[in-house]
Amino acid sequence: MKMILSSVMYEKFQHFIYSSLGLYFPVNKKYLLENSLNTRLAAVQCDSFEDYFLYLQFDAKRIQEQVELANCLTTNETFFFRDQVQIDCLRLYVIPELLKFGQYRQSLRIWSAGCSTGEEAYTLAIMLEEYVPDCRDWQIDIIGTDINEEVLRKARIGQYDDYAIRNIPAPLLKKYFTVSDGHYEVRNTIKQRVTFSKLNLFDSRQMRTMQDVDLLLCRNVLIYFDAPGRRQIISGFHHALRANSAFMIGFSETLSQVKNEFRPIRWDRTMVYYKEEMSFAS
Ligand SMILES: C[S@@+](CC[C@H](N)C(=O)[O-])C[C@H]1O[C@@H](n2cnc3c(N)ncnc32)[C@H](O)[C@@H]1O
Repeated sequence: MKMILSSVMYEKFQHFIYSSLGLYFPVNKKYLLENSLNTRLAAVQCDSFEDYFLYLQFDAKRIQEQVELANCLTTNETFFFRDQVQIDCLRLYVIPELLKFGQYRQSLRIWSAGCSTGEEAYTLAIMLEEYVPDCRDWQIDIIGTDINEEVLRKARIGQYDDYAIRNIPAPLLKKYFTVSDGHYEVRNTIKQRVTFSKLNLFDSRQMRTMQDVDLLLCRNVLIYFDAPGRRQIISGFHHALRANSAFMIGFSETLSQVKNEFRPIRWDRTMVYYKEEMSFAS
């Protein structure tokens, strides 16, 4: 039977989840929190929200349970070549610009933050393989990170169903995937360019491990955070990015409420944010 979350317990969970995971559940999303908590209560056989609150903080399995709860609270919707305008923008504008800035190094470091099951990171790997003329001469590293270990496990396997691959142009599907038992598997040439690791975007210590990034995609993730949370994460991104690097958020997302140090460029109906080179001119 589904239990109803009292206002007192809602506030306690809201505070705990915000301070430990950075995930923000305003009153109009209380029902989402309540649903996820009910699922976890049943899974760990707690009889009340009060018991579960103690379990989350003091049980020997609390760390594992906090991860399970985070998995339950976030949605993992994603697919290859998501949002055509942004894909065109990457192909026609962002990637050519990056090649200009990176050509003396012949290296690129790309980060898909909140990568879910890996489709976005593999899309970038496929695009670079296709659109960087002498790709084999470049050192290209693509890093996919997420808070959810289960999606990262799937990302490393790299097997997808019809839904995930529906936007991939047919020639690219043929070139970069093998098909068996009704699923599509990313070929090793692409897999070897991508690594996946766990990273909580709200954890400043973990964020500091990311450096020298040339292109960062954090799409459809910032929606989980309130304005101070977004500000903290974006400041971590700013630190992780090199000068002249590019940053993109989701097509329907905005950075307008968050004061930031990026130069926004409009391309068709989407935005790219550039970290400017530091000026030492007086
Ligand atoms: C809707 S998916 C977006 C996937 C992909 N970026 C895309 O746009 O197709 C959101 C992802 O953000 C992840 N996420 C949510 N909160 C996070 C956090 N604090 N740190 C890292 N990842 C987080 C979720 O686990 C989920 O996989």
